[in-house]
Amino acid sequence: MILSGKAKIAGVIGWPVSHSRSPRLHGYWLANYGIDGAYIPLAVAPDRFPTAVAGLAAAGLRGVNITLPHKAAALSACDMVDDNARRIGAVNTIVFGNDGALRGSNTDAFGFLENIRRNAAWRAGGIAVVLGAGGAARAVCVALADAGMIDIRVINRTGARAARLAADLGAPLTVRDWETRHDALASAALLVNTTSLGMTGQPPLDLDLAALPMDAVVNDIVYAPMETDLLARARARGNPAVDGLGMLLHQARPGFEAWFGVAPKVTDELRDFVMAEP
Ligand code: ATR
Repeated sequence: MILSGKAKIAGVIGWPVSHSRSPRLHGYWLANYGIDGAYIPLAVAPDRFPTAVAGLAAAGLRGVNITLPHKAAALSACDMVDDNARRIGAVNTIVFGNDGALRGSNTDAFGFLENIRRNAAWRAGGIAVVLGAGGAARAVCVALADAGMIDIRVINRTGARAARLAADLGAPLTVRDWETRHDALASAALLVNTTSLGMTGQPPLDLDLAALPMDAVVNDIVYAPMETDLLARARARGNPAVDGLGMLLHQARPGFEAWFGVAPKVTDELRDFVMAEP
């Protein structure tokens, strides 16, 4: 890749950032669309985050993605944040304006919903069950509330965390105890696992799917492994199942378009490329 003096530059800030798939993802799009630009990994320690963001903006970058552990700190680093970022309590995309303003947004809710909509025949309006109450669950619940679900049952091992999430976001979120998770699947149109259970190196998710309606869509936001035990068991009994990689791919679209001026497409070739070892 040879850049001109007019090249547009963006990147991802994390600590560590070496595990991030975003440089491969944006790099694929940049090459595919023949854009004079680059997307770089930026390892920034937490105590240097505000200085780094201000410096990158001053240096003329178009903007950045924000990953762990900076997503909450990014809220206060921005001059303006969108409604979703405020409700989720985290910024994952910043656009550095020509006027010097830092505009923060959160595209995780968008990425989650696009992934479900494009990969399963699913209609909003029913009951959803969300396992977990961390940052990812927040984005999922915002997406589902805005999509018009009538009840979003939030179930977390630490009940107080689920209660805080439901109190923060309000209706249609309701809280169920972790012990009742098996029965809480009754009548659900959608089941989403946002816990780390089932991820490579983590304990399995202990969840009996017997009460889940056969047409309910099952989604695991984890993509390592791509086919989790939950997705495999859902598919085996006939439920439509959607893996978590699409959320990562789709959440990247708004940032790419804002920084580089092209609305990028998510394709099967992109999926394969992002998951292939560099
Ligand atoms: P993220 O921001 O990615 O959602 P997180 O904030 O670390 O990550 O949340 C991880 C989720 O996995 C939480 O809901 C956590 O439950 P607690 O709030 O009770 O910690 C859940 N989780 C992790 N390990 C778990 C386990 N062994 N059993 C049940 N839930 C677990």
